Amino acid sequence: MPNEQPIGIFDSGFGGLTVARAVIDLLPCEDVVYFGDTARYPYGPRSLDEVRDFAMQISSYLVNQHSVKLLVVACNTAAAAALDDLTETVNVPIIGVIYPGAQAAIDVSEKGKIGVIGTVGTINSGAYVRAFQELSSDQLELFPLACPGFVEFVERGESSGEKLHVLAERLLAPIVSAEVDTLLLGCTHYPYLARAIAKVVGSDVVLVSSADETAFAVAKLLKEMDLATEEEKNGKRVFISSGDVSWFAEVGQRLFGPELASVQAHEWNPSP
Ligand code: DGL
Repeated sequence: MPNEQPIGIFDSGFGGLTVARAVIDLLPCEDVVYFGDTARYPYGPRSLDEVRDFAMQISSYLVNQHSVKLLVVACNTAAAAALDDLTETVNVPIIGVIYPGAQAAIDVSEKGKIGVIGTVGTINSGAYVRAFQELSSDQLELFPLACPGFVEFVERGESSGEKLHVLAERLLAPIVSAEVDTLLLGCTHYPYLARAIAKVVGSDVVLVSSADETAFAVAKLLKEMDLATEEEKNGKRVFISSGDVSWFAEVGQRLFGPELASVQAHEWNPSP
């Protein structure tokens, strides 16, 4: 029964858990398989070609080994690098986080002055600028900015402290000067740093993440394609990491909650 197959969600590490949380909260009966590619994070500084290869490899693993019925690319860098190719090659429906994130920012911005922060890969790809142009005919003022270093804080389990504050002040200075009214967290790791980011940009700036909007898109697509589970049950959750599974469980539980107590290992074969 395809309806009873799980939803697959992946990211380079912990970031996609922000999206998994929103999907699970909205669709508690659905089974979910989450894959964090922690052995190969961060994706942000890598070339888009390399990230595309990783995204293809993870997608075929989730489709072939876990029979997922729908894939959520819960990583902006991977979505920027590979969403088009994945849509063509993978035989299940796919949702990325870039369009839902841009839509969420458009919906809340009052002045149309929108900052977008993300990894070097995401920002340099221009994927957000294209998404905003496609989604809105209004004259938006966009301020895209790469924030190298933020992802590593989350992966180290640090979401506060002086070092993070100093980095945030340095990186976000152009956003503060631009006086944006909305700041899109264009990397799924960043919601875990929201308090540190808000402290620098100020409480007048609305912080937007793609998580909720992506979950709504998943629910809509499942309904449209008649793929939603028909069972009234508590969905099963499976968490898989390509890196250190005890670290993934330790930090993952802090970020996601007690459901992440157990993590399965998946090792990529070394390239020949
Ligand atoms: N969560 C990924 C994203 O949304 C982080 C990428 C990274 O590993 O650098 O872009």
